[in-house]
Amino acid sequence: MPVRPRRTPETLRSMRWFGPDDLRSFGHRSRAKQMGFWREEFTGRPVIGIVNTWNELNTCHTHFPERVEDIRRGVLEAGGFPVELPAFSLGEQMLKPTAMLYRNFLAMETEELIRAQPIDGVVLMGGCDKTTPALLMGALSANIPAIYVPAGPMLRGHWHDVTLGSGTDVWKYWDDRRSGKLGDKEWGEIEDGIARSAGTCMTMGTAATMMSLAEAMGISLPGASAIPAVDSSHKRMASASGRRIVGMVWEDLRPTDILTEAAFENAIMVDMAIGGSTNAIIHLLAMARRAGVPLTMETFDRVAQGVPLLANIRPSGKYLMEDFYYAGGLRALMAQLAPRLHLDALTVTGGTLGAAIEGAAVYAPDVIRPLDNPVKPAGGTAVLRGSLAPNGAVIKPTAAEERLLVHEGPAVVFRDIRDLKARVDRDDLDVTADSVLVLQNAGPVGAPGMPEWGQLPVPKKLLRQGIRDIVRISDARMSGTSYGACVLHVAPEAAIGGPLGLVRDGDRIRLDVPNRRLDLLVPDDELARRRAAWRQPPLPGGDRGYVALYRRSVTQADQGCDFDFLDGQPGQMPEPDIF
Ligand code: FES
Repeated sequence: MPVRPRRTPETLRSMRWFGPDDLRSFGHRSRAKQMGFWREEFTGRPVIGIVNTWNELNTCHTHFPERVEDIRRGVLEAGGFPVELPAFSLGEQMLKPTAMLYRNFLAMETEELIRAQPIDGVVLMGGCDKTTPALLMGALSANIPAIYVPAGPMLRGHWHDVTLGSGTDVWKYWDDRRSGKLGDKEWGEIEDGIARSAGTCMTMGTAATMMSLAEAMGISLPGASAIPAVDSSHKRMASASGRRIVGMVWEDLRPTDILTEAAFENAIMVDMAIGGSTNAIIHLLAMARRAGVPLTMETFDRVAQGVPLLANIRPSGKYLMEDFYYAGGLRALMAQLAPRLHLDALTVTGGTLGAAIEGAAVYAPDVIRPLDNPVKPAGGTAVLRGSLAPNGAVIKPTAAEERLLVHEGPAVVFRDIRDLKARVDRDDLDVTADSVLVLQNAGPVGAPGMPEWGQLPVPKKLLRQGIRDIVRISDARMSGTSYGACVLHVAPEAAIGGPLGLVRDGDRIRLDVPNRRLDLLVPDDELARRRAAWRQPPLPGGDRGYVALYRRSVTQADQGCDFDFLDGQPGQMPEPDIF
């Protein structure tokens, strides 16, 4: 435990607002009473903000209004004063052009919600993809006691006797529909059955990945991340989190005590073992920068060395998150990985990760594999470098056809997403199974917001030949539920003059995953000519307001795509003046 004096009622942060005998504090107290509270309810007790990322267009958080009440119950039982703080809800499905554009927006909102108000500790309610990193980034910068409550995955999907997984099976059956194998009736039935309850995508997509990594890093209660959203255990986990945050306030246990270098390394190892989403790299890089932890792309390759894939979950494996929960959940998986993990890392319980996973058992050994019988010997994500990606790129080899992991072929270039949509399925597209599809201008600045366009569709012409995977390269991201030989996050991106923007049809590209290389096989003098002639293309999305701020300030994928002005040590911003 960090050595910091326990808080007393007088030293609570909220007492700066409610404690003094002055005119300002009279205003704060009288207005709290306006809401019907007694003075002793909100003074001298930890005021707990419940940051709730709910709205009616976030389909994954529909149970949050009920969970707020569960959390509130826990806070009250433990002697705290709960206040709900609604925040921007980043629903992955409905928010366009991409929820990633708004991750930093929610991170800033979270930080300021906390910093500017009389809050002693926070419960962070998130789950749908970007909400988790955003909440944790904001909480890290504010650096007051915080606990994360994951939304939990939805139940398995069903179509006739087939189990359906979010995203992963959509892509699969969409290819069947595009190639004419699936009719309107079947497609409608799949639409009916693929999302059956509240909760996040239930494959190991970005949501399940980030919820798992939050638990692995110790910022949520042990065992929290895999509980299905509609399971009664989820309500109990929520109330227990509400109880625990009150204790964390008295102990002054802060995000920086928990989200240390050891915690990030644990997250990387767990990410490999669960076959986590490629998006995790960007989010962990951004969070680490907020935490002041020196994490780079190379850290991923170093720490991930030799960590096998243990979770047999789609898209890299067979099962779904509901199965993972019944099999023992993340505690059981981490117990398998225990020899590799930093077991002395601290968690929100105030105890160590080692204590948190003690006694965890695997109940379904095909779902959670032991180290000596992994799903695949190497884990989820590989970091590539080379002349096409001087500052790095990533690929998820476990989700690609093995024959493509070492591949050389001619480029078929799409200058942006509109060009791709217009041409990819045309019969006259000059493409073969050996081609390398390249999508330009889909990065943080180019798109803007680096959408999940990186799983470029396999051209219809090839689908009809029975080809289901092909090498694809972009500066975009890919949904964690996707699969295929997709090289992503190429940095620097095309729209700021990266080599990706210089590729032309027919250029040969070489991908060599075992040697971690991605190279554009074009002579240097020719590349220099193209670079001199390069001009930034017109960028979509407008040039005012938040988009303009975003374009001016966003960093590249290898730096986490945070805003450059949000770098800095946690808790660096001064407390607000109260005059
Ligand atoms: Fe919310 Fe996938 S759409 S987690």
